[in-house]
Amino acid sequence: MLPTHLPARSLPISAVRLQSYIEISNYVRGLRVTYPRVPGCVSGYSRGFHCVNRLRQQDGPCPPPSHSFLEDYKQSMNFPAATIDLKSLLERPVSGDKVALHGYLGRRVDMGKRMAFVRLSDSTLSHNVQVIAFAKNKAAFEKLKAIEANSPVVVQGTVQEKQPSVKEKAAGEQEKAKADSVEIALEDIHCLNEFPKDIIMTPETVFPAEKRHLQIRTESNLRDALLFRAKVRNVLREALGELQPPFVDIETPLLFKSTPEGAREFLVPTRRRGLAYALPQSPQQYKQILMASGIPRYYQFARCFRDEDLRADRQPEFTQLDLEMSFATGEDVMSIIEAAVKKLWSSLMPEPLAAESFPRSSYQDVMAKYGSDKPDVRIGMEIKRIDHMIPVDLVSKISPLNEPIVEAMKLPGNEDPDETRRFLTTFMDSPAASGFHKNPEGGPGAFVYDSRKPLSGLQPFGFEATWVLEQELNLEDGDLVLIQARKNAPFSGGSTALGDLRREIHKAAVEANFKPAPTGFHFLWVTGFPLFSPISESEPGQGGAAGIASTHHPFTAPLRESDVSLLLTDPTKVVADHYDLVVNGVELGGGSRRIHSAAVQEFILRDILKMPAERLADFAHLLEALRAGCPPHAGIALGFDRLVAVMLGRESVRDVIAFPKSGKGEDVLVKCPSEMTEESLRTYHLQLRDERAEEK
Ligand code: AMO
Repeated sequence: MLPTHLPARSLPISAVRLQSYIEISNYVRGLRVTYPRVPGCVSGYSRGFHCVNRLRQQDGPCPPPSHSFLEDYKQSMNFPAATIDLKSLLERPVSGDKVALHGYLGRRVDMGKRMAFVRLSDSTLSHNVQVIAFAKNKAAFEKLKAIEANSPVVVQGTVQEKQPSVKEKAAGEQEKAKADSVEIALEDIHCLNEFPKDIIMTPETVFPAEKRHLQIRTESNLRDALLFRAKVRNVLREALGELQPPFVDIETPLLFKSTPEGAREFLVPTRRRGLAYALPQSPQQYKQILMASGIPRYYQFARCFRDEDLRADRQPEFTQLDLEMSFATGEDVMSIIEAAVKKLWSSLMPEPLAAESFPRSSYQDVMAKYGSDKPDVRIGMEIKRIDHMIPVDLVSKISPLNEPIVEAMKLPGNEDPDETRRFLTTFMDSPAASGFHKNPEGGPGAFVYDSRKPLSGLQPFGFEATWVLEQELNLEDGDLVLIQARKNAPFSGGSTALGDLRREIHKAAVEANFKPAPTGFHFLWVTGFPLFSPISESEPGQGGAAGIASTHHPFTAPLRESDVSLLLTDPTKVVADHYDLVVNGVELGGGSRRIHSAAVQEFILRDILKMPAERLADFAHLLEALRAGCPPHAGIALGFDRLVAVMLGRESVRDVIAFPKSGKGEDVLVKCPSEMTEESLRTYHLQLRDERAEEK
């Protein structure tokens, strides 16, 4: 509880429950700052806010309210319309024109008492112009001087030729050419909302995520990313809409039902006791129902929700370009996506993509070659299996496993073994490597190829294996050979330990300037995934009792007729008609041909996955739709946030989302998720369990 008898200024900061550095610094500034009234500026809110939230409880009642802010607000309601946008004005200026411009005021520079300069940025914050004010126009001059930098304003004035400044005059011709040719002679100015003094906003200010609105306002690359995102969406809409028959944009419900599709869901409780919706992890089931409904081609920029562990490329709430086609196979879907992606690149990127089809590799091949189902093939570093040729005692040194598979790869060096050793030591001691050392299947072995040493530094491999490795990996001085053991079992999951090491060590090599960053875009279709995978702890799967879960989702069709037969004999060997689109190590999209027969779909859910009857009943709507003569169909979803991030070369999808969630799944701007109140618990018939009491 706050001590209510103390005046605000004598309260220790910690007593006022301020949570962030910004809040604390604003609090301190708030105590010091007095707010002069700016004539004609909407300014009451910040003072009212301070009073309501901070001072009232601590200082006793607020002073009698002044309602001047209402008058200011009224003045800002009927502001003059812009007569021209700044971009057009700067492109085609006409001296002598009277203009009204909307925008944000910059920092004012006073030239003695008679003149002042200020820059006006337009509403997009991407163009600006100099405004010049003279004391002889007293009213406008005084108004300008009373307005804080960064406030939104309407400037009214006359366009006039701009005299070069002293600096511009002294600069070379190039600088002169860049200088503005016109400026605005100020006649009147209207402040539409005073920018508060307690927010320090300069071009150098870096705002935290809690102030996302100010991040967006000050970081042009964030605003550019949002504009670019909108353009990507438009091009994709055009690409899909112009096909024959066209893809039709159809919205599917966000209040859906809980079904065990694969990822963990978010539930939405209702006021009806015990009833809840679930937010869709994807519109998968609705789009298949649309195929049964006689809609031949559907698409949607779909909001999807998954309650899963977050990473740089994952958000709990994200967007997919989701599409589905009837009377179609996976081949049809892949060719439509390739055409759309190529159109995107030729419309919005500096270089178009090559005309050839995207290459394809099977899951087994990419796992064997790169140890990942979404490899960045630009970095090379292909993996080779070497357990058949290396001495048994070397195997036992690197792994406790019995007869493991041992694989090797090369990180090419720069012909200097000592430089490679320095990089290797730094990497192995870094936090990025700690997970690899702790691998229960054994840590990686690392060897620097050095022709000055016996067997070029590969002594533990013995004479014969060294010779084979030299040939197979094409070794040269300074190359780093990495080896890793893994269980002798078929591939499952998204990567092997050596595949993860390949990605991480290459990333570290680029960061340490040991290797150049890979460039360009390398698209790849990964196909031929197993239809089922062993159940993993991180994903709930379909909750069946078979110990396996669908690799993609339970609606994916087997690839060939022989795979359909395998369902009866060895389901774990069934290959799926599932395709992922991968670019530069990012899984951009995933799709599949679907099971269009209700009987086969039911067989997979009930007899293969062994779902309990009550969970099977959750899919009754889908089975019913398939049963009603649903044509064969196939589809895909591209991660739209990932697509935009890849196009812009951004590390995280957060950089291309206006209001992303933090690593903990929180929106720190609006502060959610927020605690449920007693009242909302009652409304939704919920009760919080006291877990500590239960543990006792
Ligand atoms: P899938 O689960 O593979 O397929 O998802 C498709 C694509 O969506 C993106 N994605 C994500 N992006 C950001 N944050 C996340 N948490 C996240 N999860 C997935 C990825 C992924 O490739 N219904 C199927 C599609 C289909 O079969 O048509 C589906 O959702 O880029």
